[in-house]
Amino acid sequence: MDVQTQMKELVAEAAAQKVESGMLLGLGSGSTAAILIERLGRRCRDGELTDITGVPTSFQSSQLATQYGIPLISLNEIDHIDLAIDGADEVDPEKNLIKGGGACHTREKLVDSRADRFIVVVDATKLSDTLGSTFPLPVEVVPDAYRQVMDSLRDLGSEPHLRMAVRKAGPVVTDQGNFVIDAKFGSIDEPADLESRINNIPGVLENGLFVGLADEVLVGRIEDGVASVRSF
Ligand code: 5RP
Repeated sequence: MDVQTQMKELVAEAAAQKVESGMLLGLGSGSTAAILIERLGRRCRDGELTDITGVPTSFQSSQLATQYGIPLISLNEIDHIDLAIDGADEVDPEKNLIKGGGACHTREKLVDSRADRFIVVVDATKLSDTLGSTFPLPVEVVPDAYRQVMDSLRDLGSEPHLRMAVRKAGPVVTDQGNFVIDAKFGSIDEPADLESRINNIPGVLENGLFVGLADEVLVGRIEDGVASVRSF
């Protein structure tokens, strides 16, 4: 197993230990969240956890929760979530995030913002001083609008690319049936301002900037063979 996957396993396990019986849980998406869901299923099977219910952020998390025996409920049936745990593509020192590497950021933002507490789980490669320096910003758009949204994203100073699918002809289609544009900004100095500017463009459903939402970031690291999980 490669080192990055080992770091993901470390942090997912640490987050799984923070879950208590009876919790209503936001279940994130991506490879780190997938390990978390598997660990939660294992804790339930071993009798360590009882009566947890998941609110999925994607088809992926819903499918995995079902596979590991975690009951699910939809956002419209609840008025709060006790704890959401989700991955991220980039995290700055203020706990602001870029998400959407798996094209799930619209439902992730809904679920993560509905939680009393939102914990982010990342491996050490995801840390960055300024958002946008390592990862392009995902923007979910209505298919008919992709060309004009790309023009508006260029006007905001980015280099936009329509995300193309792998093993499917044409663009990535999200769980909501939309397209994703990855906008390379280089560095994002005012993430809150950019988040609302982009969401104001006609045809944009949601962008992957998560500003002021995370309560805690758990970081898995393996350095010189020493494994650690740090929190900030
Ligand atoms: C999906 C996401 C993921 O949480 C993010 O891409 C991190 O994924 P991974 O844990 O596989 O690195 O935002 O839309």
